[in-house]
Amino acid sequence: MSKRVGIVMGSASDWEAMKAAAKMLEEFGVSYEAKTMSAHRSPKLVASWASSAAQRGLKAIIAGAGGAAHLAGVVAAHTTLPVLGVPIATKSLHGLDSLLATVQMPKGVPVATFTIGETGAANAALYAVAMLALSDARLAKKLAAFRRRQTAAVRKAKLPKP
Ligand code: RP5
Repeated sequence: MSKRVGIVMGSASDWEAMKAAAKMLEEFGVSYEAKTMSAHRSPKLVASWASSAAQRGLKAIIAGAGGAAHLAGVVAAHTTLPVLGVPIATKSLHGLDSLLATVQMPKGVPVATFTIGETGAANAALYAVAMLALSDARLAKKLAAFRRRQTAAVRKAKLPKP
């Protein structure tokens, strides 16, 4: 059976943050394929993978990269599937560079950009789940239950004595 979500990242070093997306999709039972490919180091691979993504059955793509983070944009250039960009933190500029590179797409080729690092990766997965849930009632129920559990955890939270 075809996978529903694609996860791509510019380097294996991005997996530390990007695995949060994979974990979240697993929590919802959403199948995914995770790959490493670089807009700069393996541009032809990115083009062929992204061009064939819709045909292979993917419904959304989560793309994470750091620094001159062109991966999400280049993926978006090769597919009309929704592309969810995750800026990866860098040593020099702490991911502000990646955030600006990912978010500043020119008009006409959008990338939905999430926050830097692990939180952004997890939220991108939740967003992909929300999109899939529009046509999948079981997934919609799981997402609603996830939100209820979160709310319950907030209500239960106790502050330590000052
Ligand atoms: C980007 O350069 C990758 O997405 C990664 O975040 C960053 C550093 O890559 P490595 O030098 O660790 O492979 O393309």
